[in-house]
Amino acid sequence: MRMLDILEHKRCKQELTDEEIAYFVNGFTHNEIPDYQMASLLMAICLNGMTERETAVLTDCMAHSGDMLDLSDLGNTTADKHSTGGVGDKTTLIVAPICAAAGVKIAKMSGRGLGHTGGTIDKLESIPGFRVALSEAEFKKQVQTIGLAVMGQTADLAPADKKLYALRDASGTVNSIPLIASSIMSKKLAAGAKNIALDVKCGSGAFMQTADDARALAEEMVRIGKNCGRNTAAVITDMDTPLGTHIGNALEVTEACAVLRGKGADDLRELCLILSAHLIAMAKQMDYDTAYCTAARVLQSGEAFEKLRQMVTAQGGDASVLDRDTCFLKAAVEREVTAPQDGYIAHMQTQTVGESASLLGAGRETKESKLDYAAGIVLHKKTGDFVKQGETLATLYAATDEKCRAGEQRFLQSLTFSANKSQKTPLVLGTVE
Ligand code: URA
Repeated sequence: MRMLDILEHKRCKQELTDEEIAYFVNGFTHNEIPDYQMASLLMAICLNGMTERETAVLTDCMAHSGDMLDLSDLGNTTADKHSTGGVGDKTTLIVAPICAAAGVKIAKMSGRGLGHTGGTIDKLESIPGFRVALSEAEFKKQVQTIGLAVMGQTADLAPADKKLYALRDASGTVNSIPLIASSIMSKKLAAGAKNIALDVKCGSGAFMQTADDARALAEEMVRIGKNCGRNTAAVITDMDTPLGTHIGNALEVTEACAVLRGKGADDLRELCLILSAHLIAMAKQMDYDTAYCTAARVLQSGEAFEKLRQMVTAQGGDASVLDRDTCFLKAAVEREVTAPQDGYIAHMQTQTVGESASLLGAGRETKESKLDYAAGIVLHKKTGDFVKQGETLATLYAATDEKCRAGEQRFLQSLTFSANKSQKTPLVLGTVE
């Protein structure tokens, strides 16, 4: 078999065989296929798509490209969640402790930022001392003893996805339903949890820009999960405006802790309760409404916050930073962005807001970029708010004036103003079970 033939087939919109898919997944994982050929195939897949069968085979090959974690000795309440990626999406930092406090065993492997979106592992690494690399034994023991562990994807877990994810990020090939579905579900299947909740983001800050695409992605992933014997549910949620108010790694940890301490933004809290309720309902075999009340109760009582503290401490992090109202890392430069005119904020092009955070230092420009954990944005106004010219819209944090200026310019490009108040988009656009 030759990679050049596979490239030709996909370029000509032919369906790839199981053998061809296994060939390129194995070849790329074992460094036998160079980045330029793989990037070319990824672009052909982005442009020409994959059938349901091709996507299922790709997912299976990627899941089996490394270790398949066996969590069966932890029982049937093991659970994992995944977001398709958005701006300001720090839900894992809240959902994992809520579920653990409700008796669900959260065994989660998370990723780093991709494109304009942030990643949980980067956020957790902003906590001084926090270790994202755990051995399999440590991971399972922590889930068993305190009910939750969040670690980085190990080199042995879906290594095909690890390599592909990095290459997609650097080759403009992130945005494709089969590539996203197989990337996410290969990791979820290999990570071994019995119950999986998926948050499929939709809108200008998401990889899926339309409700139809988001539903197609949600259906594809739920089908793959269920066919592989996992309880799987997906919620399609709005990402046409950043989630919550804080964007950037340490800033998002600070906001997540605020929610766990009974404060924080309403949209963020509500989405976390919904995702937690789905996981609790599946794992504990409860009806959704009872599960939602359970989630709200453990959030309100502080039991969930206590779980986050336990996890941070267990993974070597300094849990004292979780109590701070203001961000525990201080950026060298801070700058207020003010409204250029009077009016309602009609729209925030959310990918552009994510790009602004990246320019400030919160995201990566290349595979090798180093993050500035203190960098990012705190929004004071969001879509639908009325502002007067000169009023503060956001505070930007960066290491240099130059970065701040670049971030500010991009941030202002994200905004559209209107004389009239626009209709609010609902937070949840659909559910697939
Ligand atoms: N998250 C993933 O894990 N993979 C993708 O491809 C996109 C978002």
